[in-house]
Amino acid sequence: MSILCPGTCSELSTDNINILRSVGIRTVVDFLAHSPDQIANKCSFSHTVVSAIRRALLAQHASLVVSGSNIYHQVSQKLTILHTGIQSIDNLLSGGLLSTELTELAGASAAGKTQLCLAVAARTSLVPKHCVLYISTGADFSSERLRELMILSGSPQKNLSEALEQVKCIHAFDVFRLLEVLHNLPALIHNDSVFYAHLKLVIVDSIAAVIAPIIGGKQIEGHGLMMQVARKLKEIVVEENIAALVTNRVVQSDRNSIKPALGASWLHVPHTRILLTNQREDGTDHSILIRKATIIKSIRQPINLTTRFVLPGN
Ligand SMILES: Nc1ncnc2c1ncn2[C@@H]1O[C@H](COP(=O)(O)OP(=O)(O)OP(=O)(O)O)[C@@H](O)[C@H]1O
Ligand SMILES: [Mg+2]
Repeated sequence: MSILCPGTCSELSTDNINILRSVGIRTVVDFLAHSPDQIANKCSFSHTVVSAIRRALLAQHASLVVSGSNIYHQVSQKLTILHTGIQSIDNLLSGGLLSTELTELAGASAAGKTQLCLAVAARTSLVPKHCVLYISTGADFSSERLRELMILSGSPQKNLSEALEQVKCIHAFDVFRLLEVLHNLPALIHNDSVFYAHLKLVIVDSIAAVIAPIIGGKQIEGHGLMMQVARKLKEIVVEENIAALVTNRVVQSDRNSIKPALGASWLHVPHTRILLTNQREDGTDHSILIRKATIIKSIRQPINLTTRFVLPGN
C-alpha cells in the first residue's frame, strides 16, 4: 500500500500531506477511497487542489486499461498450435496441442498412446525451429518408427535428418530422474543451446509408469513427488510457452467403464484429457479395429466429443 509522499505533484506538498494525515488519510488508497467533496470539506482544500492530486495519483498508480480484444490479440500471437499429424485428432482439438497447456492421453495398453506421441513428435519436428523433448520412462521410444512417421507426414527425404535432429529422447526410469530432467529444463532453455531455445513440445511417455509405483499403500512421499512433477510441468509450459503431452494408464471406473489412473489429485493437472479406446467391430469380411479418442476434460471445449482415428501406416 503506497504512502502519500511529497513530490507526486506540486499540490501534494509536505504541509498538505500533514493535513491529510491529521484526518486519517495516509495512503493513496485512503485518498482515492474518499470522494473529492469529502476531502475538500475535511481538509479545507479547494476543489482544484483535490482534483489535481487525484489526477496525479491516478496517473501514477492506476493500472492500465486494456481491452479484451487487445488481450486476446496478445495471447493468440504468443500461442503456438502444434498439429498432431492425425487430422481427426487435430479436428477434435480444434487445431492441435496448444502451447502453455498440458494434454494427457490416457488409455489401456495398446490403445495407441505411444504411437500418438511419436506422431505428434514427428509432425512437430517437421516445422523449422520446432524442437521436441521426448522423455521416455520405458522402452517404447523408437527412432525408426519416428523416421517412418516423418516420411508418412510428408517430409521430403532431404529434410529428414534435420527433422530428426529436432527430436531428443531422454530416458527417465524413475520419478527422481524425471524431476531432475524437468528441473534442469528452464536453465537449458535459457542457455545458448539451439535445440532447447527452440523447444516447443515436451512429451512424457508414460507419466503413470514412474508415478503409479510410488503412490498408494503406506507410501507417504509418493503423493508429494507426484505434485512436484505436476507443478514443474505446469511451470514449464506456462513460463516457457511450450506444450506438454503426457500419457497415463487407465483403471476400472465401474463395471463397464474405465478412467485415467493417478487419482483425484492428478485429475486437476492436465488442461485437456483424451481417453483412447480400441474396439473390434465386425466388418463384412473380418473384424476391424476401431480406435477412438474422446475428450474427457478440457478448459476450452465441450467434453465427450469423440472421433475415430487411424494410426499412420496402419
Ligand atoms: N511400428 C509400428 N507401426 C505401425 N503400428 C504400430 C507400430 N508399433 C505399434 N503399432 C500399433 O500401435 C499399437 C500399440 O500402440 P502403442 O504402443 O502406442 O500402445 P500404448 O497405448 O502406448 O500401450 P502401452 O500402455 O502398453 O505403452 C499396436 O497395437 C499396433 O497396432
Ligand atoms: Mg506406450
